[in-house]
Amino acid sequence: MAYALFNFIFLIIFLLPLCTFSQNNGTITVGTSIVATERSTPWLSPSGDFAFGFKKLRSNDMFQLAIWYDKIPNKTVVWYPNVTNPISRDSTVGIDAQNGLVLRDPQGRLLWSTIDIDDDVSHGFLNDTGNFVLVRSDSVSIWDSFNYPSDTLLPTQIIAINGTLVSRKSETNFSRGRFYLRMLNEGNLVLNTRSVPTNSDFDDEYYNSQTSDPANDSNSGYQLVFNERGSLYVLRRNGERTDLTTKRSIPTTSDHYYRAILDFDGVFRTYYYPRSSSGDQEWTVAEYWPQNICMEIDGQKGSGACGYNSVCRLENGKPICQCPLGFYLSEPNDPFSDCNPKFIPICGEDDQKGSAEDVYEMSEVSDTDWPFSDFEQLAPFTESDCKNACLNDCLCAVSIYRNNSCWKKKLPLSNGRLDTAINAKAFFKFRKGNIPVQGSNFPTPEKKKKDQGTLILVGSVLLGSSLFVNFMFVGAACLGFFLIYNKKITNIRPVHDTGVVNLRCFTYKELAQATDGFKEELGRGAFGIVYKGVMPTGSNSTIAVKKLDRVAQDTEKEFKTEVSVIGQTHHKNLVRLLGFCEEGPHRMLVYEYMNNGTLASFLFGDLKPNWNRRIQIALGIARGLAYLHEECSTQIIHCDIKPQNILLDEYFNARISDFGLAKLLMMNQSRTLTNIRGTKGYVAPEWFRNTQVTAKVDVYSFGVLLLEIITCRKSLIDLEFGEGENPILTDWVWDCFQDGTLDTLVKNDTEALNDKKRLETFVMVGIWCIQEDSSLRPTMRKVSQMLEGTLEVNIPPCPSPFA
Ligand SMILES: *[C@@H]1O[C@H](CO)[C@@H](O)[C@H](O)[C@H]1NC(C)=O
Ligand SMILES: *[C@@H]1O[C@H](CO)[C@@H](O)[C@H](O)[C@H]1NC(C)=O
Ligand SMILES: *[C@@H]1O[C@H](CO)[C@@H](O)[C@H](O)[C@H]1NC(C)=O
Ligand SMILES: *[C@@H]1O[C@H](CO)[C@@H](O)[C@H](O)[C@H]1NC(C)=O
Ligand SMILES: *[C@@H]1O[C@H](CO)[C@@H](O)[C@H](O)[C@H]1NC(C)=O
Ligand SMILES: *[C@@H]1O[C@H](CO)[C@@H](O)[C@H](O)[C@H]1NC(C)=O
Ligand SMILES: *[C@@H]1O[C@H](CO)[C@@H](O)[C@H](O)[C@H]1NC(C)=O
Ligand SMILES: *[C@@H]1O[C@H](CO)[C@@H](O)[C@H](O)[C@H]1NC(C)=O
Repeated sequence: MAYALFNFIFLIIFLLPLCTFSQNNGTITVGTSIVATERSTPWLSPSGDFAFGFKKLRSNDMFQLAIWYDKIPNKTVVWYPNVTNPISRDSTVGIDAQNGLVLRDPQGRLLWSTIDIDDDVSHGFLNDTGNFVLVRSDSVSIWDSFNYPSDTLLPTQIIAINGTLVSRKSETNFSRGRFYLRMLNEGNLVLNTRSVPTNSDFDDEYYNSQTSDPANDSNSGYQLVFNERGSLYVLRRNGERTDLTTKRSIPTTSDHYYRAILDFDGVFRTYYYPRSSSGDQEWTVAEYWPQNICMEIDGQKGSGACGYNSVCRLENGKPICQCPLGFYLSEPNDPFSDCNPKFIPICGEDDQKGSAEDVYEMSEVSDTDWPFSDFEQLAPFTESDCKNACLNDCLCAVSIYRNNSCWKKKLPLSNGRLDTAINAKAFFKFRKGNIPVQGSNFPTPEKKKKDQGTLILVGSVLLGSSLFVNFMFVGAACLGFFLIYNKKITNIRPVHDTGVVNLRCFTYKELAQATDGFKEELGRGAFGIVYKGVMPTGSNSTIAVKKLDRVAQDTEKEFKTEVSVIGQTHHKNLVRLLGFCEEGPHRMLVYEYMNNGTLASFLFGDLKPNWNRRIQIALGIARGLAYLHEECSTQIIHCDIKPQNILLDEYFNARISDFGLAKLLMMNQSRTLTNIRGTKGYVAPEWFRNTQVTAKVDVYSFGVLLLEIITCRKSLIDLEFGEGENPILTDWVWDCFQDGTLDTLVKNDTEALNDKKRLETFVMVGIWCIQEDSSLRPTMRKVSQMLEGTLEVNIPPCPSPFA
């Protein structure tokens, strides 16, 4: 024993430094991995110029898997994998022989891997060029990061036909941005915008290298090359090169690092940085394309270089976005987001009251233009006529006066820009007085189109039908309009009526006050933290506020849908949802508060609950689940049944919580290994197989839970198991059932020992539920009937016949 220990210490002391040393030649052996923490050591290239590992994000407690320039104080990121979400603490990246690079979250779920490879990996290698290569046993490269660029090119890297760079969301946010660089099949290098996240078609180009030759394909471009001296050129098939960089822009003295990046502002720039820098240096821009992005993005689709209604001006080659007076940023921390108007000009009843002068005033700005969004041009016209024309037109938001012409424009305005060359004046309409902000949900072009479509449809139907039908139709339309209108208001204003039946919409502030600044934590789950609070108004009853931390922003619509599905459930064995909050990044659910905590603390605490109470709890859970599976208008599969998710009310009734959240928080319904839900010890085996996942997964978890309720023992390997007990609960129960020694399951529990018939029934139902073959498991309806004794239970087969 002592000798073994000595050996172990010897290994640690002498071999560990050797291992670290061997990694410094750039080779990373299969089986090596890095954990996402501040202290983890990245993999370095032989020269130490580049590192591969986890980089801590500044904004939150998340990490980004990346390759970066390690000797530069800012650790400039040059590559990151195509995963949408930032990575949470304690995730790991490693190399395995079959999948190459594999990124997993702290629970071991696959987030990303280099799946395109066919051969077994011998080792990884971080080249001094910054290229991460996976190598076969015969030293042939089978995957490299240069072939999967993110937004950056490094010297010696090329973009082949159909290759793409995608900008990031902001300097520090690595989510996908709006700008794309592509090498097209016909030989042009182009820059486009594309609206996220709809992934629609590309909008018009704002840069084109003009390197295709439709007449003779062998003169067309086929590669964008960034060479070792920081020059950028398009290589044509005939071997000619068309330089994008002009030679003078690149320093020839001393040694430099280089990079070319499609920046988050849409400009494609080359940069250099002296290798022998004292440390407080920054990257210097060598050249950039296009020369003036504010002017060059001028397609009819999309918002332009900045967001809708914003105005773009160029400073040192960089676009600066600014909201005009009377508008505010829809995302306060992102200057590139849309500018929302403080009021929306509409031709409604409201505007008929009094003259336009009483309600509005006009403000004036020079040299600003929005080339599109006009609905009327008036010429010849004077400046003051132009101003008044907009003032008196209820549709008009802005008018532009230039060269004796007047253009009336409506929202949203796109491609706004400051341009001294055009000598234009813009007049903005304002609402007088202190009119409150009408809301942050400015109608997007798509929304508008839809509304118009509805109107046109209504119009044409009206024209084509008889008087009586019309009469009926108008009545119905009014009712419909009333309903739709009601719903719209909900979308626009943070009102307290939600449009979702029986649910209340809370503001963030209300809930912060209700929970005294989120002070008292009731528990932490897979989806977020739960806080205790008091109902903001009225009843003074206690509530539980669940702060969701995993809802993606672009799932806003689904959030409402799912919340309303949850809100429509009413059963005495479910925790009741009272309301929700959906404000900015905040998503919260408000539930009734349960006095007696979780079943987990009840079952595994010091005072074991009595047998009859346990029976009632098991029955309650079974009924609640049967309701979720069979009686709701939309079937709800819970996916995470475990004692931590069962709460007990003041009468110790079982109440299922967190139902509907699995769907809400993981909208991606494709069931793959990457998003196994549930909790270890309770998840059904089909999560790991390529078979359909159905409500039967809950039956499996319920089976495990039932056995826990019977035995008061945890299903996961329990360190406190007694002499001769199998450490795996389900195996132990099966052994006892086969040996006819059910008594050992409830040792010292006289009530249960005196209730042998029911004990046997419950154990048999539990074993039916945990059948590995999901088709053998009964439905929850049948389970509750068997537990109640209204349906006979047959002898169950072995739950895992293949084990
Ligand atoms: C790096 O070191 C490992 C272990 O010492 C060795 O097997 C490998 O050949 C080395 N690679 C290079 C490129 O020198
Ligand atoms: C890079 O470093 C410089 C100087 O230390 C600092 O001013 C600058 O803000 C940093 N840039 C980023 C993007 O972190
Ligand atoms: C990134 O991933 C998305 C979806 O996972 C895919 O549609 C897209 O083509 C990928 N982009 C690149 C550049 O590989
Ligand atoms: C690094 O990459 C360059 C360019 O692909 C290649 O020529 C060189 O051999 C690589 N270095 C090593 C040590 O593999
Ligand atoms: C590029 O993509 C297009 C369309 O998907 C395809 O037709 C073409 O063959 C691709 N070109 C190359 C060189 O891969
Ligand atoms: C990055 O931007 C995306 C898209 O706007 C947003 O959903 C995400 O929360 C941002 N991430 C961080 C860390 O700010
Ligand atoms: C196409 O261009 C190549 C090289 O410039 C030339 O050799 C060839 O004759 C041209 N082919 C045609 C059909 O013009
Ligand atoms: C001004 O408008 C006139 C006609 O209305 C046109 O001929 C002239 O070219 C315009 N000037 C400028 C600078 O746009």
